[in-house]
Amino acid sequence: EDTQMPSTDIVTLTRHILAQQIRLGPAATGDLTLLLNAIQVTSKFIATNVRKARLINLVGLAGETNVQGEEQKKLDVLSNDIMVNALRASGKTAVLVSEELDEAIVIEKRLRGKYCVVFDPLDGSSNIDAGVNIGTIFGIYKLKEGSEGTINDVLQPGKDMVAAGYTMYGSSANLVLTTGQGVNGYTLDNALGEFILTHPDIKIPQRGKIYSFNEGNSMYFHEPVIKYLESIKYPKNGKAPYSARYIGSMVADVHRTLLYGGIFGYPNDKKTKTGKLRLLYEAFPMAMLTEQAGGVATTGTQRILDIVPTEIHQRCPVFLGSKEDVEDLQTFYKEEQ
Ligand code: AHG
Ligand code: MN
Ligand code: MN
Ligand code: MN
Repeated sequence: EDTQMPSTDIVTLTRHILAQQIRLGPAATGDLTLLLNAIQVTSKFIATNVRKARLINLVGLAGETNVQGEEQKKLDVLSNDIMVNALRASGKTAVLVSEELDEAIVIEKRLRGKYCVVFDPLDGSSNIDAGVNIGTIFGIYKLKEGSEGTINDVLQPGKDMVAAGYTMYGSSANLVLTTGQGVNGYTLDNALGEFILTHPDIKIPQRGKIYSFNEGNSMYFHEPVIKYLESIKYPKNGKAPYSARYIGSMVADVHRTLLYGGIFGYPNDKKTKTGKLRLLYEAFPMAMLTEQAGGVATTGTQRILDIVPTEIHQRCPVFLGSKEDVEDLQTFYKEEQ
């Protein structure tokens, strides 16, 4: 008979982070643990609002435009406020940068901690009203030695991030996190209200079979991207062409890429000269996760994590995913030079 007892030893996100802290020994202050705890609470809070959105009139526009010139959705604004409030109250942050706020927030002295958080409170806004997967993206820096917290603490290359992650609000809520020692994925158990470790040590396949680009922009694409896409759609020597999957929520497209492999790309092009995705709170966290999972993240010509930002809302081209797929793309950029 096949009766299975439920596990009596589940690993929650909190337990998992605490275990890492214990491994680091007495030198670890527990501040990052508490900050990550504050972040996971915001993800649960946003997840419940996403689920209820249609029923409590949370869909649609908020009526304002953000600094990027995008019309804010109600959920963009709500998610931003949830994160700012929780991060400030955690007492562990000094500088906050959000997609939805023109300026960085410097936390008042009374509540100031040693971490800086850059975040995209609600990623995939265009998908909200259709109930398609959306998410939250975050990256964490430590204050520079001796700094009280200024914008310079977040104008640092992505390789200096101490942690990064996202939560995808999909058929389940999935939080995917790296603290620089690999990538782990957790699934929200709604009954327990806890994120449970379901995807330990995520490793992206070396090669995939899926490409994820907004090909509707093809007429603006530069030569290397056009040639690369051609090479995977009309492969030589009897190979099968790649499958197309593009959701239009970076979180969902990257999540699938981490699990299944393949390549996600949002290039710069003749119309969008700098690319669309934002360096600090979209490209850097996803690049860190990708590298930590054994993949590659590049602008086509440069490692994303090496870029030194000069502005908090600056944009950059993004290609990330399976090592071999991204390397194939890079050969077309090299040919051009
Ligand atoms: P956001 O909703 O946070 O503004 O981000 C939207 C981004 C990203 O999620 C996605 O990869 C990309 O925009 C989609 O852009 P297109 O609609 O141009 O394909
Ligand atoms: Mn936006
Ligand atoms: Mn986004
Ligand atoms: Mn957003």
